Amino acid sequence: MKNYSETVKFRYKFLAHVYDLMDIVGFRNKKYSPRLGLARHIPNENIIILDVCFGTGNSGITIATKNTKNKIIGIDLSKQMLKVAQNKISRKQLNNITLRNMDATNIRLNPIFDVVTTSLSLHEMPKDIMDAVVSEMVRVLKNNGKMYIIEWDKPTRFLSSIVFMLFPYFIEPKGFGKFLKLDWKSYLEKHGLKFESVEKYMFTKLIIASKG
Ligand SMILES: C[S@@+](CC[C@H](N)C(=O)[O-])C[C@H]1O[C@@H](n2cnc3c(N)ncnc32)[C@H](O)[C@@H]1O
Repeated sequence: MKNYSETVKFRYKFLAHVYDLMDIVGFRNKKYSPRLGLARHIPNENIIILDVCFGTGNSGITIATKNTKNKIIGIDLSKQMLKVAQNKISRKQLNNITLRNMDATNIRLNPIFDVVTTSLSLHEMPKDIMDAVVSEMVRVLKNNGKMYIIEWDKPTRFLSSIVFMLFPYFIEPKGFGKFLKLDWKSYLEKHGLKFESVEKYMFTKLIIASKG
């Protein structure tokens, strides 16, 4: 696990500077943005949300901008990714997001969250790490709370699937093809969640589940 976390910290030290290009290119069209889709599901109420593997905050910031009553905690292993996120949060003058540098395999927080979410992160993890992260996400979720996972999904349209083969397929870790075929319903049920639905976007999907 130590090796894994050192690799992630090293990789994102550099990627942090260019990471947001992905959203600018890939999700420019609002119709294709799973982040807007995620934000639409979450009511603007006094609830507390944990965004696991917050990165540069593209999902968390989208939620916080729409829902000023939500309180969001974002955790990530990479200080550089959080630094980019914090700059954006300050520029947008959002006061409903708090960032913590933390390993998602060992979330040092109590089960206080109404919503737990993670975007485009699980596919990068070895299976044992992903299992540990999802177990922790379930643990910190309150009973009746909702879990939202954004992940890559192969497009059905021919031209888009060619684009997908170049990015992200080509650059993602070995095992990405197998990950894309994961049966999310049985995977999440094994973790004690109730699978609710999947929403499809152009290159991604939003998986929705609940606890209890
Ligand atoms: C592909 S980025 C996704 C960032 C963001 N969620 C998004 O949707 O753009 C993956 C992020 O997961 C973080 N990460 C990977 N493993 C982690 C772990 N065990 N604990 C916390 N963060 C982790 C990385 O540092 C990186 O910021």
